[in-house]
Amino acid sequence: EASAEERLFEELIANEQRIEPRDWMPEAYRKTLIRQISQHAHSEIIGMQPEGNWITRAPSLKRKAILMAKVQDEAGHGLYLYSAAQTLGITRDEMMDQLISGKAKYSSIFNYPTPTWADMGAIGWLVDGAAICNQVPLCRASYGPYGRAMVRICKEESFHQRQGFEILLTLMRGTEEQRQMAQDAVDRWYWPSLAMFGPPDDQSPNSAQSMAWKIKRFSNDELRQRFVSMLVPQAEILGVTLPDPDLRFDEETGRYEMGEIDWDEFFQVLRGNGPCNAERLERRRTAHEEGAWVREAAAEYARKQALKAKA
Ligand code: 3HC
Repeated sequence: EASAEERLFEELIANEQRIEPRDWMPEAYRKTLIRQISQHAHSEIIGMQPEGNWITRAPSLKRKAILMAKVQDEAGHGLYLYSAAQTLGITRDEMMDQLISGKAKYSSIFNYPTPTWADMGAIGWLVDGAAICNQVPLCRASYGPYGRAMVRICKEESFHQRQGFEILLTLMRGTEEQRQMAQDAVDRWYWPSLAMFGPPDDQSPNSAQSMAWKIKRFSNDELRQRFVSMLVPQAEILGVTLPDPDLRFDEETGRYEMGEIDWDEFFQVLRGNGPCNAERLERRRTAHEEGAWVREAAAEYARKQALKAKA
């Protein structure tokens, strides 16, 4: 027999209402939100590295300024999301430790290298494009702080996607060598950005419950399909080829048939064996250690302020 609180919770969810931090919620709902929001936050923070790699080597002052703004935005996205997760009872330190110890997951996509400038275009166009497909529905997530954080993040994400598209467009209008560089980056980022949406629906243990609780609004495969149908016309404008020879539009179903994603590679990356997993964690660990003095100074300042307030 469901308790009065459970019935109220179910009613709020059924009526598309928000669940707020002070509301009663099933422990499993709280747990899956902490899991997803903290992983999302970790992804934003680790996601700063592949692009940060090119800030000192951007081809012009304009590109450098845009890239710096984008990387700073990712840091902000991470902080909004850590704060949203903290409303569920986990502390910032616990989440930091989970990431630095290698226990926490973060998006597979950030474990790939960025060997050329064109990668900045491919990441903006493909990775932030995928992030938009995945994050717009999350603006309607049933948990208030998460949905609200998404609204702000999605606004900044569309600037990220446009600047990536524009980098690729500039390269595709450049020399043959620049066109090759852009196509090479699209070839390397296309399949990992499809995998970013998560495993196929029949191998997605969290989806059913996450959709019942209206955290996840569309399945992994549904969002992947949306993403591809957004990419095809944009690839034509860019003049790049999407590296999937089996990609074709099925008139009957109105959907895209696509080639097989390499799920072995995906699960290898999730197990920490991607091209850059070790390097990304090492960089995060070092930054955390080198940043200890800032945390100590802030804590000391707060202590003195509290003493002053008491005096
Ligand atoms: N990378 C790492 N792990 C992934 C993953 C990915 N791309 N896709 C799925 N997984 C993990 C899941 O976390 C889950 O493991 P867990 O139970 O230990 O958490 C397992 O694989 C099975 O996947 P499910 O489909 O059952 O899991 P979910 O229902 O949680 O769906 C998700 C996965 C779609 C990624 C969902 O968690 C989600 O929407 N998360 C928030 C969005 C997000 O993280 N976006 C990507 C990174 S942010 C970004 O792109 C920055 C941009 O500004 C550049």
